[in-house]
Amino acid sequence: MSSGLQKIDLTSQGFKNDPIPVIRGSQKAGSLIRTKLPLIGKCYLTTTHAATTDLLKGKDRFAMQPKNAGKRDLTWWFNFLPQSMRRLSKNMLTSDEPDHRRLRSLVDQAFHRQSLADLRSRVEELCDAYLDRLESANQDPVDFVSTVARPFPLTVICEMLGIPEKDRPQLMGVFEGMLKSNNLFELIRLLPKFKELTNYFEGLFETVRANPGPGLISALVHAEEDGDQLDKDELMTMVYLLFVAGHETTVHLLSGGLWALEKFPEERERLRKAPAIIETGIDELLRFVSPVMITKPRFAKQDMEFHGTQVRRGEMIIGFLAAANFDEAVFEDPEELNLSRKPNPHTSFGGGIHFCLGFQLARMEGQILFTKLLERYPDVHLAIDPDDVLWYKRFGLRGLSELPVTV
Ligand code: HEM
Repeated sequence: MSSGLQKIDLTSQGFKNDPIPVIRGSQKAGSLIRTKLPLIGKCYLTTTHAATTDLLKGKDRFAMQPKNAGKRDLTWWFNFLPQSMRRLSKNMLTSDEPDHRRLRSLVDQAFHRQSLADLRSRVEELCDAYLDRLESANQDPVDFVSTVARPFPLTVICEMLGIPEKDRPQLMGVFEGMLKSNNLFELIRLLPKFKELTNYFEGLFETVRANPGPGLISALVHAEEDGDQLDKDELMTMVYLLFVAGHETTVHLLSGGLWALEKFPEERERLRKAPAIIETGIDELLRFVSPVMITKPRFAKQDMEFHGTQVRRGEMIIGFLAAANFDEAVFEDPEELNLSRKPNPHTSFGGGIHFCLGFQLARMEGQILFTKLLERYPDVHLAIDPDDVLWYKRFGLRGLSELPVTV
């Protein structure tokens, strides 16, 4: 790597299994390090809690859209994506004020129409149904990811969106293919499937426009604030964002959380005996697993000094959420899992104006899953050594590809 750039490994099995050595190494180099990341290119990475939260809260100094910081595009390969896919990458999470505020208030309105308390009993019912599937793990190990951790939050988000049950298997198949795509060519190969999905959603928008139904999609189609509504493209990108952000991250919290409990058997036992500690425990699992390890890139709107480094207008900075979550200046014994940790100012849901829309839902799903799992299957254990698990290769996310368990 050319001079001035720090080499940093964010993808290997070793890093995903134990990110601490990389985190400590980068923190030693400064609050902000200059590096080159796959698909993204040259950028800065924050390594401390203070720099990460300042970045996330700095909407006046940092932009999500490169053009708002005097740059043309995120990366060269972006221009090779078909127009339909490029459009999708310009969603609420990648937009700046005032567009972001407008989109967020329309979705907030639709999202909060369904109260979490009302949803809770349905989420519990679904969790029980997926946990039933573990019965057979009495005899042989069962993969916790494909049996429970993936289908449970996927079904919850489908129900929230109001996607009819009969259509779900097909949609889930296409989305899984998209999420597994690690490069441009794999994405392009999925184009026909992608078109199919877009046609499907367009049809659903028309149906619920004529006959409002339950769920977020219908609420979004009809959402209106001060006479303002989402247009067709905005609706499509919002539904994709909710679908992807609404389940993939939760899958990793559920499977990574179980893995973390196995690494800390005393904490696991404490939770089994006193399930109420899941109230604080879920935030500790979020901190410890850090399912979203890095943020979307931000662009400096002007030349500035940021945490001791001179950054130029247009340069890219990414928040290293996992490093912030293990910052010794903020967390006592950060490398220990402590389910009673309080306060716990983890950054796993981001911060500032893009703070995760679904944080309460994700917390609720995690609390329900871990409480029920240990209550119904007190002897649930990994069927392999926790250091031999297989991590997802995908860059930026920390999740398990599979997790064999016995009950
Ligand atoms: C364990 C589960 C989850 C984690 C760790 C997580 C993490 C995050 C993070 C880190 C961000 C900010 C990214 C950035 O600033 O670059 C974010 C934003 C977002 N999340 Fe989540 N999320 C989770 C679950 C959910 C769920 C269940 C939903 C939806 C139902 C959701 C919807 C969103 C949306 C829409 C945004 C964009 C918000 C905006 O731009 O205003 N997330 N999430």
